[in-house]
Amino acid sequence: MAAFHTRDKPWQTLYKIMIGSIVPRPIAFVASRSAAGHVNLAPFSYFNGVSYNPPTVAFSVIDRGEEMKDTSRNISEHPEFIVHIVSAPIGEQMNVTCGDYGADIDEFVEAGLTALPGVVVDVPRVAEALVAFECRLAHFLRIGDSAPRASHILGEVVYWHIDDGLLDEAARNPIDAAVLEAVGRMGGIDYARTTDRFSMVRPLIAPEDPRSIPSRKAASAAVPVPLKVPRARQ
Ligand SMILES: Cc1cc2nc3c(=O)[nH]c(=O)nc-3n(C[C@H](O)[C@H](O)[C@H](O)COP(=O)(O)O)c2cc1C
Repeated sequence: MAAFHTRDKPWQTLYKIMIGSIVPRPIAFVASRSAAGHVNLAPFSYFNGVSYNPPTVAFSVIDRGEEMKDTSRNISEHPEFIVHIVSAPIGEQMNVTCGDYGADIDEFVEAGLTALPGVVVDVPRVAEALVAFECRLAHFLRIGDSAPRASHILGEVVYWHIDDGLLDEAARNPIDAAVLEAVGRMGGIDYARTTDRFSMVRPLIAPEDPRSIPSRKAASAAVPVPLKVPRARQ
């Protein structure tokens, strides 16, 4: 097994090892706007949902050498953005937007995607995306001491767009993964589809079980906790 200290490898090697190991990664397709009004759209796979009360998403933008990319600079100027989920049908358009375009170039136009106005944020939304989260900037963290540094951006989701064909609020999993067809990023220029899925029922540790969480045991002594039985999607 290869084993080494961080200090013994250049960041370029560590980056490739990291993105090849942490797979598949969801892709935030992020629309933002500069103070001057230029619209920007770009993909970021250092991305996830990180809290749900309030609902919060996070992604990281690595600087281009000494300079921030358009997305991080825009959000530092105009603290709103829209995160879209990349479904297979818009995968190629997403890939077009990752080119090194100048700040005044609108990637909606380059990729042939339709821009609709945001409802509560002053940033356009990708009409073709099945899921879009309108976000207000919650935290903007700078990471690192030397180039390329990174901006870790956390946004509170304040407005949601979910395609009708996807959503069944009564279902245990209200988003139909087969309709969403989300694409994940692997290492290099590789991607993964979400068509090969499987389920695992979680272990149920009854409150009276001695291995259970102490606060559950105490609560169950007062009020009986109903067992949760996983419900199949309708
Ligand atoms: C699928 C995919 C995922 C990417 N993930 C990231 C990422 O997490 N962080 C990052 O800094 N760049 C990432 N990139 C590269 C940026 O999209 C690229 O640098 C883009 O030009 C940035 O655009 P901007 O300058 O308009 O913000 C990714 C590219 C692709 C295609």
